[in-house]
Amino acid sequence: MDMDKLVSLCKRRGFIFPSSEIYGGINGFWDYGPLGVELKRNIKDAWWNDNVRGRDDMVGLDCAIIMHPKVWEASGHVGGFSDPMVDCRECKGRFRADQVTVVCLHSTEDKLPIDSAEQFWFSGLGEIHDVQTDNAKELDKARRKLRGNPTETWYKLSEWVNEPEYARFPCPTCRKQGTLTEPRSFNLMFESHTGAVADEGSKVYLRPETAQGIFANFRNVVDTTRLKMPFGIAQVGKSFRNEINPRNYTFRSREFEQMEIEYFCHPDESDEWYAYWRKARFQWYVNLGLKSEKLRLRDHDKEELAFYSRATADIEYEFPFGVSELEGIAHRSDYDLNQHQKFSGKDLTYFDEDRWERDKARLGLTAFKDYLKQRSQEPNPGYPYQYIPHVVEPSAGADRATLAFLCEAYTEDEVGGEPRTVLKFHPRIAPIKAAVFPLVKKDGMPEIAEKIYRELKKHANVFYDEKGAIGRRYRRQDEAGTPFCITVDSQTLAGDTVTIRDRDSCRQWRVAASGIVQAIGDLLEGRPAAGSL
Ligand code: GAP
Repeated sequence: MDMDKLVSLCKRRGFIFPSSEIYGGINGFWDYGPLGVELKRNIKDAWWNDNVRGRDDMVGLDCAIIMHPKVWEASGHVGGFSDPMVDCRECKGRFRADQVTVVCLHSTEDKLPIDSAEQFWFSGLGEIHDVQTDNAKELDKARRKLRGNPTETWYKLSEWVNEPEYARFPCPTCRKQGTLTEPRSFNLMFESHTGAVADEGSKVYLRPETAQGIFANFRNVVDTTRLKMPFGIAQVGKSFRNEINPRNYTFRSREFEQMEIEYFCHPDESDEWYAYWRKARFQWYVNLGLKSEKLRLRDHDKEELAFYSRATADIEYEFPFGVSELEGIAHRSDYDLNQHQKFSGKDLTYFDEDRWERDKARLGLTAFKDYLKQRSQEPNPGYPYQYIPHVVEPSAGADRATLAFLCEAYTEDEVGGEPRTVLKFHPRIAPIKAAVFPLVKKDGMPEIAEKIYRELKKHANVFYDEKGAIGRRYRRQDEAGTPFCITVDSQTLAGDTVTIRDRDSCRQWRVAASGIVQAIGDLLEGRPAAGSL
């Protein structure tokens, strides 16, 4: 699939526009147009319905984007949410050190590349070994020069420790050697100030993730609901990161939306819950249409894990620009609540009443305080009845999901010998669910079609169109990803039936006009349409 074609379709049909386009745009920011906003909203609604409303163990939150700055100290974002960056003094490019790959070729006889007479250095942006797509010709030339028997060593710039060789790295963009600066930390949080005076004391941050609002409200949710462990708190909302290299369309933006769950559970059960969410979240994308082999689950190696994390997996999708992360599922242990307990001084432990009631007779006790007394010398005397819960965090991006669904849906095929572009969205996320057309703009057909449209509009987002040839109207809806088109024609006038056309197969069949709401409802739910003739 050609990414440029998708980008152009998205612009042309009103899915996604560059933000502030009339002023030349602003890098890393995007606006969703009339079709895009419906698509993204449907994705967020599907996520909310499946993960929050459809479950008994989940509630939602909608927290402020600007929170107390201490939240970000506790979370580690003030101290650590930074990328090591390198600048090119020549072309002024700025790159994330972990995204620059360096290749060194030298003849196999040489033990150390630094001392080798014949050595060649290349660099590029991207994953190890992918970088060759940029440098393929030069790499091959160097391999031949080394008589086809070179040693090739591939490095990430961020892993580089051997300083003297730094000057040999070429810039990944302009390819000039020795122009890259040493990596320097760059915090990704956007800063602002509250109140009239902009000084250190009034500094605040635009949240870089929605997760911390959930942790900061953990006590509030426990105290105001009847939720018992295990339970989850979900939030969908904007996050902001001053990404150094916003790129790949909406994939890495500076303003984006996250859909995050913090699932709190007993420490003894957290591994099971991690396994559950790892599987459940993968299946969610499959159910909504990311069926192809382009979707995969990648477990992090031990070295990749944060020190507090017991396990993490990424759900990855093979975008046209490479395999990249859609969502992360992390077992974060009790790290976050512990941090907030430490920084806020508030008690964030949970008393597991059910567990205590179940066990107290067996322990020969009636009051929990006696249990605490018995174990007062223990480091964690309340355990396993009073504890800081462990958390499993499935953290998804609404914009990345939207982009993946767009990429997956984009199809070029032929209908009646004519090429067509169609977005084959799952009906649940399709921006427009059905379009209603009168075949011609006369003989009372528009009136009947409009009546059907008004009726359907009470139930779903539908579209009415009476302009242009019917074939062109179908094509426009194919490009918008509308799963069904309903046409009022001369047979409607004679026999009160209309046609339904299926977007993917282009098959058409008739249903009773009076049963169209039921028929479209069935089709959108994946059932055969009631009243098909
Ligand atoms: N609370 C954990 C967290 O925020 P993350 O891996 O940094 O983890 C989670 O982000 C998800 O948010 C990513 O998998 C991605 O879908 C989305 N995301 C992160 N940065 C993004 C960006 N710059 N642009 C678009 N989506 C982004």
